[in-house]
Amino acid sequence: MASTNPNDRLSALLTEEFIDQGERRWLYAMAAILGIMLAVIVITGMAQMLHPLSSVETIAPTTLHLQGEFVESNLGTAIEPDGSATVRFVAEQYMFVPQCVKVPVGTPIRFRLTSADVVHGFFVGETNTNAMVVPGFISDVRTQFARTGEYKMPCDEFCGYGHHAMAARVVVVPKEEFQNATPEERVSCGAQ
Ligand code: CUA
Repeated sequence: MASTNPNDRLSALLTEEFIDQGERRWLYAMAAILGIMLAVIVITGMAQMLHPLSSVETIAPTTLHLQGEFVESNLGTAIEPDGSATVRFVAEQYMFVPQCVKVPVGTPIRFRLTSADVVHGFFVGETNTNAMVVPGFISDVRTQFARTGEYKMPCDEFCGYGHHAMAARVVVVPKEEFQNATPEERVSCGAQ
C-alpha cells in the first residue's frame, strides 16, 4: 500500500540519481556561462583593443601647477623628436585644461592626463580612447586618428555637480595645418 505521508512521496521522487543528475546539469550550465563571459572579454579585448592601462605612474596632485610635466606651459600638444605627438591635459572640477587641442591626423598620439582633485573620465567620442583619470596617477593612452574632424571629449566619470558640463574637444587637422599653427592655436580651436 502506498504511503500517504507527503515526505515519503518526496523522497521516492528525489532519488540520489535524480539529484545527482540535476546538480551535474547546473554545473555544466554554470561552466558554459563562465566560458561565454570569458570569451566575451577575450574577443572584445582583442577585436576592439579594450584593455586596462599597463603603466602605473604616480604624481603629486597638489603641486601639478608648480612643477613637473603638467605645469600650464607644458599642456596641450607637443611634437616629439620622432614625429609623434604628446597631448597633456589636467582634469579638474569641472573642466579639462586646455579646453581644446589640435592634433595632426595619421600621427601616433600619446595622451597623458592627470587629475587635480577627484576621479574624472577621459573619453574621445567615436573612438576606443577611454580611461579613468585618477588623482595621484598619470593616465597614458596611445592612439592615432585616421581622419580629420572634431571629436567631443566629455568627462565620462561622475565627478560632482558640474560633471555634465565638463567636456573638452580634440580637433584633428591635416599635418600641414598643424605644423603652421602657433603654440596658442594648438590649444585654442575657436568658439565652442
Ligand atoms: Cu569630471 Cu565628470
